[in-house]
Amino acid sequence: MPIHASPNGWVLETRHTAYAFGLNQAGLLTHRYWGARLPYLADYPAPFDPVHWASTDGFHHFVPEEYPAYGGVKYIDPCLKATFADEVRDVVLGYEDFSVKDSPTPELAVRLRDSYYPLRVTLHYRVHEAYDLIERWVTLENLGADPILVERVFSAKWTMPHGDGYSLTHMYGRWSDEFNLQRETLTPGLKIIESRRIIPSHRAVPWFSVDKNADEDHGDVWFGTLAWSGNFKITAEVTEFASTRVSIGLNDWDFAWQLKPNEPLVTPPAFSGYTPHGFGAASRILHDYVRDELLPHGRVLHKILYNSWEATLFNVDETSQAHLAEIAANMGVELFVMDDGWFHNRNWDNAGLGDWFPDQVKFPHGLGGLIQRVNDLGMDFGLWVEPEMVNPDSDLYRAHPDWAIHFPTRARTESRNQLILNMARADVQEYIIAALDKILSGNNIAFIKWDMNRPASEPGWQDAPGDPRELWVRYVYGLYRVWGELRRRHPQVIWQSCSSGGGRPDFGILQFADQVWVSDNTEATKRLSIQEGFSQFMPAITMEAWVTDWGKELVPLEFRFHVSMCGSLGVGGNLLEWDQAERQLGSDCIQLYKAIRHIIQFGDQYRLLAPQKHAYSAVQYVSKDKGESVLFVFRTHIPDPFNFPVLHLRGLEPGTLYTVEGFEQPRSGAAWMEAGLKVELKNLQSKVLRIKQVS
Ligand code: DGJ
Repeated sequence: MPIHASPNGWVLETRHTAYAFGLNQAGLLTHRYWGARLPYLADYPAPFDPVHWASTDGFHHFVPEEYPAYGGVKYIDPCLKATFADEVRDVVLGYEDFSVKDSPTPELAVRLRDSYYPLRVTLHYRVHEAYDLIERWVTLENLGADPILVERVFSAKWTMPHGDGYSLTHMYGRWSDEFNLQRETLTPGLKIIESRRIIPSHRAVPWFSVDKNADEDHGDVWFGTLAWSGNFKITAEVTEFASTRVSIGLNDWDFAWQLKPNEPLVTPPAFSGYTPHGFGAASRILHDYVRDELLPHGRVLHKILYNSWEATLFNVDETSQAHLAEIAANMGVELFVMDDGWFHNRNWDNAGLGDWFPDQVKFPHGLGGLIQRVNDLGMDFGLWVEPEMVNPDSDLYRAHPDWAIHFPTRARTESRNQLILNMARADVQEYIIAALDKILSGNNIAFIKWDMNRPASEPGWQDAPGDPRELWVRYVYGLYRVWGELRRRHPQVIWQSCSSGGGRPDFGILQFADQVWVSDNTEATKRLSIQEGFSQFMPAITMEAWVTDWGKELVPLEFRFHVSMCGSLGVGGNLLEWDQAERQLGSDCIQLYKAIRHIIQFGDQYRLLAPQKHAYSAVQYVSKDKGESVLFVFRTHIPDPFNFPVLHLRGLEPGTLYTVEGFEQPRSGAAWMEAGLKVELKNLQSKVLRIKQVS
């Protein structure tokens, strides 16, 4: 049992790590330890006791409280802030009791309660022992009769071993330029990473890692992510007493929640872990967890899809799509996805969203004819939808203008000519469930791409049952309800989450979607760095990657295929314009991908040389049994003469012989890893090398 209760508090042990906290002499719940697992329970340090410093600072600046609420002389960044019915804005939490649940996954609940007001705060800890991960979330309960206004509630605060000089890595971006890695030294003060757009957004990612001199293969790394598809906040604080802490949770910006009796507020879960083996190991921990535990179909190989978007935009009809489908099927594609443009009055982005039935001009007899033709070609059929949206030019909006998020006295700012439906409303949820259920029930659809193309503005909600600012959170819970219900009714469907590319990539959405569309930028050299960023927390199986015509003047088709083969391969180019040689090359690459995709989608990923830092990069995937592996090497543009770096393979069995394609002699895993190998490439050339154990 990985949860131990002792007089000093609690110790949560995973296979290699431990997390400890407990009550100090003043009865305050404080952090004790987070790092490598130690031999004995008595090895874990006792809770920090309060020390008197000076009248200017409370002791919370050096005593790391496990879940600080704003109150008293706490000037640190708190996890909880609330105002009681009598306007008192001071929360004083004391320990109440705890309980432990063994199965299915061991769970600890520690209950805290305000010393005067009827507010209960339960801290939940779920221990994913095999994955070295701890999941944390919080439940707030109002045990009285008057509402309590909650103004901040984070899911967790994580404290680093005492000291400063840590580095924080996070990701930033913008549309078409997502997942840029940024590593910076944390200095005294507060660093905030957040989203205010109702989606996590392209600008920031609900993921962090903190390290001290770590690199890809070595060094202490503490990392975490919030399973939440809306506004989030990460705060990294270094106090004046060299105490380094990271909090993660719902964003409190423009947020307030009326906590009513008998209506608990449950926060989204935060996952976190520690490894002494560098950034690569941290990523692989998250990859394994996502594949094994989060994804609805994590053990099913993803099919190679064709998507029509870049070829036909909104000009879809049975003839054009069937023509593309025939070429795709001949190349070995397994799933044909019709993107935007198929539904009522949808000829451009200015009309139709909300009216989820086939356009009578483009599909006079419904979608059945096209689906049959695609199925006859031996492929599954998939469809694009954007259910959370409405165009003012739509039957839905004309019938229900009040369903869009808006303030009655303000203009409704349109973005891409569309508004957002208020997913927090039950009637909106029911409408979307019914509309999509009808399409899925009436057609043989194996795959749905769920898009979301604009962030929120004018976030009003007139008939809100509580505080209108609950919208930011209730919207996401509404989205989860709709998607969850559709998944329950159609469990065989594979879903892809898209938000103008990578605007909604998070562990919350992966409860519903097996794949993420990571960027609208499909230019292969840019994609290399986007893929590297995404891989920090998401496994390759979730990364849908199309080969398109973007950049074709410069970047060879083979290179473009190799880049997309590093994830879940798709094709999105205009096949009508591909000549016979290009189609043949595509077909060869697809055949190769089919032979190696189990290693890429289910194996361990090693980033050997990072494309965000080097114009010559390499990534390797190793099967879980270490029997086979595949190495991708890319050179973008480097002037000659160029000294090729030695690539040190990873993840092989040191004492076992392996062959590497292109190298005559088998060598031991140790030799390929320690002595390494060189792969020479010309500018914009790439190679895929298969690696096999010699039996
Ligand atoms: C944005 C997506 O990222 C694209 O792939 C495409 O589906 C368009 N929306 C369609 O409107």
